[in-house]
Amino acid sequence: MNANLKAQAAAAALEEVESGMRLGIGSGSTANEMIRLLAKKVASGFDVIGVPCSTRSEALCLELGVPLTTLDKMPELDLTIDGADEYDPALNLIKGGGAALLREKTVAVASARMIVIADDSKRVATLGQFPLPIEVNQFGLASTRIAIQKHFASRRVSGDLILRGGENDPVITDNGNYILDAHLGTIPDPAELAKGLNDIPGVVEHGLFIGIAKRAYIAGENGVAVVEPKA
Ligand code: 5RP
Repeated sequence: MNANLKAQAAAAALEEVESGMRLGIGSGSTANEMIRLLAKKVASGFDVIGVPCSTRSEALCLELGVPLTTLDKMPELDLTIDGADEYDPALNLIKGGGAALLREKTVAVASARMIVIADDSKRVATLGQFPLPIEVNQFGLASTRIAIQKHFASRRVSGDLILRGGENDPVITDNGNYILDAHLGTIPDPAELAKGLNDIPGVVEHGLFIGIAKRAYIAGENGVAVVEPKA
């Protein structure tokens, strides 16, 4: 996806932002375009306050002058705008390609609405081609991995669980955890797969966003389309 398409999707989503809003500010390259455009609005007098979903988004907001607070100080937000790695027709998502899924989901759920910004290459009929990120505690990694595989088997999906960054230099999230990427290929029933995944000790959060996104602005060759969940 080129930066221009990302910016088009971001600009369309920002049309929904009203002065005085409390915003969840997503993470990733598309969210970065949104932050750049938001910063211009702020510079011209637009009054918003944001909660960033990653330390990288936080740094960009600070650099560009977007006013920030924390979720502890402002635990209820009006709107979150964030990217996605995949979305399906029901607007269920896979997120976490940038390892920010825990904060992204926490911020999205704390918001009255979440909208997605992406290009049409992120659209899939069935989620799962993009490896599903699962944030796990460093303690007990091997046991957690086995428990996740058992959960997958009980839901009739399977695939490799790869420690992001590799065993010698694993990626550490903003929350001090690891990411396991589940290469499932297809997730026929994402809501069913999500159920119980968080009950596994060691699993902190997973990148399936079920029923959270209410609208998406999808940029493509013919402009930006508004997508809403199909039942
Ligand atoms: C980060 C995310 C991002 O939203 C997702 O990876 C999409 O990123 P990009 O806009 O760079 O394609 O979930 O954890």
